[in-house]
Amino acid sequence: ASTLGAAATEKGRYFGAAVAANHLGESAYASTLNSEFNSVTPENEMKWDATERTRGTFTFGSADQVVNHAQSRGMKVRGHTLVWHSQLPSWVAGLGTADLRSAMNNHITQVMQHYKGKIHSWDVVNEAFQDGSSGARRSSPFQDKLGNGFIEEAFRTARAADPAAKLCYNDYNTDGVNAKSNAVYNLVRDFKSRGVPIDCVGFQSHFNSASPVPSDYQANLQRFADLGVDVQITELDVEGSGTAQANNYSNVVRACLAVSRCTGITVWGVTDKYSWRASGTPLLFDGNYAKKPAYGAVLTAL
Ligand code: XIL
Repeated sequence: ASTLGAAATEKGRYFGAAVAANHLGESAYASTLNSEFNSVTPENEMKWDATERTRGTFTFGSADQVVNHAQSRGMKVRGHTLVWHSQLPSWVAGLGTADLRSAMNNHITQVMQHYKGKIHSWDVVNEAFQDGSSGARRSSPFQDKLGNGFIEEAFRTARAADPAAKLCYNDYNTDGVNAKSNAVYNLVRDFKSRGVPIDCVGFQSHFNSASPVPSDYQANLQRFADLGVDVQITELDVEGSGTAQANNYSNVVRACLAVSRCTGITVWGVTDKYSWRASGTPLLFDGNYAKKPAYGAVLTAL
């Protein structure tokens, strides 16, 4: 196959990109997206500060733009994200416990019901664990006021809101076996043993030269798959350039293809022109939408 999406489809996977609604009008951006990718993740448009900036008032305009663009072209959509400490409007942190609980559940329910039937996987909870060796939860309004049970509550509410969507836990620095990924692993194992709904784990996979694809990346994906969940590469980007960058990208693709429950890969942007990373060159297409060595490496590995 001659595009990322078609090559991934031949392997039973999708190949997606994070997309920003405000770039869809740029013809090179849209044509690169449309020809190469078959899944999209709205980069910011579904986050709490975009969908419920004011309590109880839901705004879906820019997220709908991304979803409509994808759906009219037969692309899948990943939902990102419902419960996260970041890009959270300040009113949420100001709520007392009972109000926060109902606001969290209402947010999940309203957003998921708006997109019911249109989202293949939702990042229900994003980044709930700390970095480092503690394996502890990260402080957030949800963690601090609702306690450890907030993740379970969020997943149960999500299942009721759209029973057909796959429900994912998503995080970064969980790509290899380490204290943080062990903590997520223990959460998923506990959920599976108690029948708490969870279908997938997202591995953000933001890499750089100091923190390249770990050698136990595939083994880590496999141990989660062995718990009975799908795994997805959700926000892949690799700072750097040339061969080193290309090799990291091939390692990710090879690892995913080697794990039968690794259902797809999403890169965190279409072009270096609009990447969120400081280095500015972590993606598969350069600022002029030319294919980089990393693009060729991915296509060859698929
Ligand atoms: C980033 C977006 O790419 C930026 O445009 C925004 O300013 C900040 O968020 N982990 C996540 C993503 O789950 O939502 C983040 O996206 C990158 C890190």
